[in-house]
Amino acid sequence: MRWRCDTWHLPLRTARGTLTALAALGHPEATVASRPDGGGELLVWGRGGRLPRAVSELLQATGGERVSSIVHDEAALLAAHAPDGPVELAPGVTVDPQGRVATRGRIVLRIPPAPAFGDGRHPSTRLAARRLVAMPLTGRRVLDLGCGTGVLGLLSWRRGAARVDFADIDPGSVRSTRAACRANGLLRPRVWAADLLDGVCGHGYDLLIGNLYADLCLRLLADPRLRSVLPSGSVVLSGIAHRRRAAVERALTRSGFRLLAAEQEAWWWMLAAERA
Ligand SMILES: C[S@@+](CC[C@H](N)C(=O)[O-])C[C@H]1O[C@@H](n2cnc3c(N)ncnc32)[C@H](O)[C@@H]1O
Repeated sequence: MRWRCDTWHLPLRTARGTLTALAALGHPEATVASRPDGGGELLVWGRGGRLPRAVSELLQATGGERVSSIVHDEAALLAAHAPDGPVELAPGVTVDPQGRVATRGRIVLRIPPAPAFGDGRHPSTRLAARRLVAMPLTGRRVLDLGCGTGVLGLLSWRRGAARVDFADIDPGSVRSTRAACRANGLLRPRVWAADLLDGVCGHGYDLLIGNLYADLCLRLLADPRLRSVLPSGSVVLSGIAHRRRAAVERALTRSGFRLLAAEQEAWWWMLAAERA
């Protein structure tokens, strides 16, 4: 996923007002900070490497100065700033890139630094992890779709899942997941590179985890193969931007799911649902 980040300098009050106006436009992916000279700095992020036209027009109308516009590759960005110490992923769960944390009484996942998404700091990962910690997983067959480093599938495995399979469209993520499985003692995992359900051949999973962004969740829920991949059981979908939550909820209902939980962190939502 590519993200464009535009930085604007403008009076602090205007920056705050613009933040509110952006949220009203359905574009909450923005933050405001104050600059040492008392002015405001507004960061506006655009999914897919671009900003919607209405957002660009609103920013132009502020009269502020755009001081930079950079397109980031999300996985590379996260890897470049990877933590070298432990990260609290969910209650009782730590992600430890270096394998130095004492494990007593906690689940400690060793996720080696990798150019893949899933070092445990992103709100969408944490939202899904909190749900996985709260649900019974013993004996379940789990598919971690869009696995990144494999962090969520590995958490399911540590919580007692009988089998966890991993898939990601990005071959680098597949390699990272294999490395993380080795580091955590999950031997001979099934990890494949494919677009959503393309690589899955009709297995009956009990739980599908997809920290995938809304557009991919919508594609997944509209895919007729989902019926055989997940004949019963539940989904934990995360990475859903605030403005797309209602659309994913509707798609869940259309695909025969009943919503169990919805949780938000920053501008992201996690939706958990089970077959109705
Ligand atoms: C938000 S990251 C989640 C990574 C990890 N599961 C976590 O929770 O931290 C989304 C992942 O989905 C993968 N992805 C993107 N498009 C995909 C597709 N069409 N099919 C499968 N995986 C995809 C990306 O490569 C990325 O690793």
